[in-house]
Amino acid sequence: MRIVRIEHFGDPGVLTLAEAPAPRPLDGEVLVRVVASAINPVDDKTREGAIGAGTPPLPMILGWELAGIVVGSRTSALPVGERVFGMSHQLGTGRGTWADLVAMPAGALAVAPLAISLVEAATLPLPGLTALQTLDWLDVRAGQRLLVAGAAGAVGGLAVQLARARGARVDALVSKPAQLEVVKELGAEWATTDRAALPAAAYDAVFDTFGAFVTDTVADRGRYASIATQAGPVPDLSRRAVSTTVNQVREDASGLAELAQIVDAGQVKVRVDSEYSLRDVRKAHERFLRGRLTGKVALVF
Ligand SMILES: NC(=O)c1ccc[n+]([C@@H]2O[C@H](COP(=O)([O-])OP(=O)(O)OC[C@H]3O[C@@H](n4cnc5c(N)ncnc54)[C@H](OP(=O)(O)O)[C@@H]3O)[C@@H](O)[C@H]2O)c1
Repeated sequence: MRIVRIEHFGDPGVLTLAEAPAPRPLDGEVLVRVVASAINPVDDKTREGAIGAGTPPLPMILGWELAGIVVGSRTSALPVGERVFGMSHQLGTGRGTWADLVAMPAGALAVAPLAISLVEAATLPLPGLTALQTLDWLDVRAGQRLLVAGAAGAVGGLAVQLARARGARVDALVSKPAQLEVVKELGAEWATTDRAALPAAAYDAVFDTFGAFVTDTVADRGRYASIATQAGPVPDLSRRAVSTTVNQVREDASGLAELAQIVDAGQVKVRVDSEYSLRDVRKAHERFLRGRLTGKVALVF
């Protein structure tokens, strides 16, 4: 089977298509024939060698998400023939998804949404679980006010839509004027590029996707979650009884099932910027690096 391997850290030129033996699923695992995956910022940082401590040893297979068909099963949870999507914590396990066949625990997969293609489904697991798990930590509920910083990004755009599906009122901070309309279409009530325009102490919860640390905007006794691990901790806000966290995404079958249900209910729009075949994985990374994306960059097997 084909894999995308890196033997050295560096620019997209280090991504190499190679052959490897198919993995064998263990008890509780399934073997997935991958139809598509997608690129996330963590793949870019890992490829560059920017993660540091905690990076799996070289050579390694990159990739955190996949959608495909079960072709071998050692669990009753997911039979052969099922359409699935899933997230593999590549940094934690070394189990990359950029391979024709991936052995995954059933707890990292769920039945894929029916309303979208497997290519679209492959772009959801990492940003979708990050958005869902962080909104759960923020305890975002109907009628509450949420600010999403970086709302036009992959995680931010899903956070806006998932929070709207919960009945929350969502405002957005974005980087470019062209993104203002985009996030309004996703459900933001109000959006700005100017952090100085954000209201003070106004939000029950703030979801910070890039280390904006707009901590003045959260109300006393509110909640502030960052996912920007590399930007460091959120400043201590205990003086105002604000809870803070830097959230880390987890493999989560029930979260995936919830995402599939929300997608099938038409409450989330999946945004794909571009599709590249696996042999063009370097071009796909170059597209990712050019930025100004309108959605995820998908890798099609
Ligand atoms: N902790 C975790 O478990 C976890 C999980 C997933 C992702 N992450 C991290 O979370 C971050 C976001 O991930 P993603 O997949 O959503 O990335 P993404 O699609 O690149 O989105 C990032 C968004 O933040 C915006 N942004 C960056 N700097 C900004 C600024 N100064 N003002 C306003 N907006 C700004 C970007 O705007 P532009 O369009 O202008 O670039 C982009 O829309 C990444 O650093 C990723 O590594 C962490």
